[in-house]
Amino acid sequence: GAPVEVNISKVEPGQLIRVEWRGKPVWVVRRTQEILDGLPTIDAQLRDPDSVEPQQPVYAQNPGRSIKAEYFIAVGLCTHLGCSPTYLPDTFGEQVEGVASGFFCPCHGSKFDMAGRVFQGVPAPLNLVIPPHQYIDDGTVIIG
Ligand code: FES
Repeated sequence: GAPVEVNISKVEPGQLIRVEWRGKPVWVVRRTQEILDGLPTIDAQLRDPDSVEPQQPVYAQNPGRSIKAEYFIAVGLCTHLGCSPTYLPDTFGEQVEGVASGFFCPCHGSKFDMAGRVFQGVPAPLNLVIPPHQYIDDGTVIIG
């Protein structure tokens, strides 16, 4: 499939937009500083907090799993059996102690944080996949 150009200039803080790439949903989420500050505080609850498993390009193998910390870009498919997790920007904290937001897979209950890192004790074995991507300017990213 062809690369997909995405205009991210109008994505609000906390907002998730969906695009399609190679028949798969790809998410772009604009993370706030509060979200970014929360990421390292939950490492002990995660299966692969440092993203040792190759679920991202090398340029996204960092704490935020992203090129730009503000924008989280991931394939929106659960690494268990491929359902599409639900973005829970406000209510995730009620389901996972101390976690303000993340992604919840309705099929079998897997949970992922705001860097797509999978929690322990759920069926999904791996963090969400980060697709190949590059920025061509501040407001435009190419997926693929
Ligand atoms: Fe997501 Fe099974 S497909 S938990």
